[in-house]
Amino acid sequence: MRNIIPSWIRVIVAFFILFGFTEFIIDSGEKPAFIEYPIVSLFLLLVLLILIAIEAIIAALENVMLLKLDEEARARFLEEKQKSIKLDWLKNVYKKLLGSKPLEEEGEIILDHNYDGIKELDNNLPPWWLYGFYISIIFAAVYLLRYHVFNGENQFDELETELADARIAIDTYKKTAKNLVDINTVSQLTEAADLASGKTIFETNCVACHMADGGGGIGPNLTDNHWILGGDIKSIFKTVSEGGRSGKGMIAWKQQLKPIEMAQVASYVLNFQGTTPANPKAPEGDIVLNSNEESPIETVIDSLENSSN
Ligand code: HEC
Repeated sequence: MRNIIPSWIRVIVAFFILFGFTEFIIDSGEKPAFIEYPIVSLFLLLVLLILIAIEAIIAALENVMLLKLDEEARARFLEEKQKSIKLDWLKNVYKKLLGSKPLEEEGEIILDHNYDGIKELDNNLPPWWLYGFYISIIFAAVYLLRYHVFNGENQFDELETELADARIAIDTYKKTAKNLVDINTVSQLTEAADLASGKTIFETNCVACHMADGGGGIGPNLTDNHWILGGDIKSIFKTVSEGGRSGKGMIAWKQQLKPIEMAQVASYVLNFQGTTPANPKAPEGDIVLNSNEESPIETVIDSLENSSN
């Protein structure tokens, strides 16, 4: 076997097997290990040098041995070597796969019609083709049973599973990505899931001062359209994140809540608008008519215009 493959191919093959192995066992993220960790490149280089050295040493040993042999033995050795180098086994495999008869035996398979000297051989089907055919029959049977009889997972099911996985991945990303929303990008969330987490956050952190129904206590009433610090989603997000006026008791929640959680609870707070709490606290601050768009100053201008009409 050693003599069949030239030494340089042996070196390359051994090297790439080792290379693949290092890439397989070293976890280097996106980049290949030999780029991520220079030491790996160094190691691979060393391996390459050692492989070349081994080949060189073996060749040298063989030469030394040849020198020691007498004329006749040397000739015999070289002849042996030459013979094994010829890829006889490969040729044999190829012939077997073709399945054709050698020229000398063609007489046995000649058919007895003869058209103007043109004759036909009754060759066997080439084994490579025949076995390929059998394999495809087996494949077809398995395929038919699996997908058409037992309703195996088809492409659409696979797509759905992948989509579900992707949705889960997005959700976890949204939960962990701390800076996904900020005061500039925040918008009112309307999805039930977001409002549900907003409710949970509110009930854990805010009810002590604002009451579960938003009616207010230590903190102001959140159900009316009066706002001290602004009633649009951005202002509320800012109030929750940075806190109220100093000394009033509304702390900055950005230390305890993630941005997405502050967006959720701010959206939940906006849902109190227009509801009637059990014990409403008296309104504080300015009226904000369109609590999503207008800032208090515009509201004031609006109400002035309305009263003059
Ligand atoms: C320790 C009591 C307390 C807790 C807990 C509390 N708040 Fe407040 N909150 C206040 C007070 C007091 C104010 C008024 C601040 C001011 O006047 O500057 C306020 C103001 C607000 C405002 C602005 C109201 C307006 O009229 O502009 C919002 C919105 C608000 N809180 C939401 C929340 C949310 C959401 C939570 C939970 C994450 C929360 N608060 C937790 C006491 C509290």
